[in-house]
Amino acid sequence: MIERELAIREDVAARVEETMKLAATDRFRLSYHVGAPSGLLNDPNGLCYFKGKYHLFFQWNPFETSHGAKFWGHATSSDLLNWTLQSPALAPVEWYERNGCYSGSTVVWEDRIYALYTGNVKTEAGERETYQCLAISEDGYHFEKKGPIVHVPKGYTQHFRDPKVWREQDTWYMLVGAQTEQLTGAVVLYSSVNLEDWSFRGELSAADLSLKELGYMWECPDFIRYVDKDLLLLSPQGIEAQGIKYQNLFQAGYLVGKADLTTGHLTFDTFEELDRGFDFYAPQTYVMPDGRRLLIAWMGMSDETEASHPTVSTGWVHALTLPREVVWDGHRLLQLPIRELEQLRKQCVFEGTLEADSENIFLNGSDVTTLEVKIDNISLSNQEFVLTVHEALIVSYDRNRQQFTLKRQNVKTGEWEERNCELLDLEDLRMFVDTSSVELFLNQGKETFTARFFPSETSGIRLSHWTSCQVSAWHL
Ligand code: FRU
Repeated sequence: MIERELAIREDVAARVEETMKLAATDRFRLSYHVGAPSGLLNDPNGLCYFKGKYHLFFQWNPFETSHGAKFWGHATSSDLLNWTLQSPALAPVEWYERNGCYSGSTVVWEDRIYALYTGNVKTEAGERETYQCLAISEDGYHFEKKGPIVHVPKGYTQHFRDPKVWREQDTWYMLVGAQTEQLTGAVVLYSSVNLEDWSFRGELSAADLSLKELGYMWECPDFIRYVDKDLLLLSPQGIEAQGIKYQNLFQAGYLVGKADLTTGHLTFDTFEELDRGFDFYAPQTYVMPDGRRLLIAWMGMSDETEASHPTVSTGWVHALTLPREVVWDGHRLLQLPIRELEQLRKQCVFEGTLEADSENIFLNGSDVTTLEVKIDNISLSNQEFVLTVHEALIVSYDRNRQQFTLKRQNVKTGEWEERNCELLDLEDLRMFVDTSSVELFLNQGKETFTARFFPSETSGIRLSHWTSCQVSAWHL
């Protein structure tokens, strides 16, 4: 390792130590999520199981609570719940990644971890250059950089990034998020037999796709093959809001169809948002050794509110979502909290069946800052139910309008704002609160809402206007 890199790694460790001290006094520090160890965290960049441990990688600017020359942060775990921070897997020190080791993914092959990522460069003239790069690790901790392995093909701008790699039979495939010279979003497909030499296969395009509708740049692609359908996950930028849909600055969702990986042609139906909350972007999925496919996303958004997060004053901003198991039910992708999360339940703070219309539950005390609430067998006779968290977050379902709503106060302006989804009926709900985050799973994962919120006091959780449901709540 070059001396300069060693010095940078020491600076990172010192910055983390400093932030940890400050964060110990920060009531918004997350307790069971992977949050920025210091500075700013964004996209997940691969989760793999290697030599007896889970290795998780993420976009990280350790030195500032703003975007900049990203590192690949690295954390390990033996249970997907407790994570140990490691020295960064990748630091931006080479010419082809000078302004950031941007997003990508990892795969395990022949006893090594292969990390494919985007080297981001800003030239002196202020222009962007981008290289898809490879780094290999024998021990899971030290990565040997092999440099660029894919250059931007003709027909695309330098907005070309975020390689996601997977294997089918004896072939490796790689998708790269792209922008065409006509300034529309696209995804480009490559294949390889050894992860080092890649051939361009074409654009994973769909003849019937109105590209304009799906924005000017597609970031962070991913691909899932099921027996009857293929899913192309995307984080498109530039989609206009349509009613209650696409309300965030950038979207994250999937196209459902069928892909031919020899021609790159994809036929698809619609673009579905993966999550309806405020803070969910750049999701990636990973197949675990037991066959489960897990999804992790950035629990954040690079919009105008980032710099106003109160945690900026304690030196960190953003986190990853909880790991979720994804399952295709033949129509949509269901997202469920991984079963391991049940081990976080420390103490049951409520358990009971509610019958009467007027019955309300109120949970208060210090325990309610980190909580799981599980509500089953909901049968609504009232037209509406409301669940309020610390008077700073309002979760509600309006049966007349068949609409589910999450409201919070905008962290910059203080104004109340909301996100919604259509829901024919509300059957069950699981809610994970972690000091300043909420993740909601509705109707066995058919819809999810993810958001950060910063309550001025932890006054408690109130559930009202429910009829006939079973409620359990645990302090986590
Ligand atoms: C998505 C993204 C990626 C890029 C990375 C840089 O949030 O913009 O396209 O690789 O973040 O941190």
